[in-house]
Amino acid sequence: MITIREEQPGDRAAIRNLTTLAFGGACEAQIIDALRSACPGLVSLVAVENGEIIGHILASPVTVEGKKSTISGMGLGPMAVLPERQRHGIGTGLVRHGLARLREEGCLFVVVLGHPDYYPRFGFVPASLYGLTSQWEGVPDEAFMVMIIDDACMNGVHGIVRYRDEFDVAME
Ligand SMILES: CC(C)(COP(=O)(O)OP(=O)(O)OC[C@H]1O[C@@H](n2cnc3c(N)ncnc32)[C@H](O)[C@@H]1OP(=O)(O)O)[C@@H](O)C(=O)NCCC(=O)NCCS
Repeated sequence: MITIREEQPGDRAAIRNLTTLAFGGACEAQIIDALRSACPGLVSLVAVENGEIIGHILASPVTVEGKKSTISGMGLGPMAVLPERQRHGIGTGLVRHGLARLREEGCLFVVVLGHPDYYPRFGFVPASLYGLTSQWEGVPDEAFMVMIIDDACMNGVHGIVRYRDEFDVAME
């Protein structure tokens, strides 16, 4: 049976390992480590099967400038599932648990930079529909997606969504 639970301190090496394997390089794992040591408010969940960590999802704070103040939301990812365990619904479970958790915490909106064939099934739409854009040049319009959770708070909010600086290691 697969369970999804909060990351614990003893999980770090396994998360680093599976993220490196899934992405084929250490960049995303380095972002996760950098965020963990510097960023409050992370949501970090693992999928566990027979005591082994086989999947992981992270969400970290993002901001966009509103009319009067800075609006905070969350950015989903990196997410990874061990290559030999992919395409068995584990990623789906992680996204659903992660989103439920973010809703519980009162998150106003969630963005994701990812494959446009994958995330719309969870309710994500192109962020450009709401006038929200990625901070990184060259990101295809359909790959930067948003889920608005609080319509009222997000009404009229548009502009560049900014991730934490730790992401720049990978994106620039
Ligand atoms: C993306 C990832 C986390 C999905 O996890 P998973 O457990 O394989 O996903 P699920 O089994 O829940 O979902 C499988 C579905 O996702 C789709 N999918 C998986 N990876 C995909 C990708 N890179 N691009 C497009 N679709 C993808 C599959 O086609 C499948 O769709 P279907 O149900 O219509 O057949 C996993 O494939 C992974 O670790 N990939 C490498 C790292 C990565 O790219 N992370 C995401 C960055 S946004």
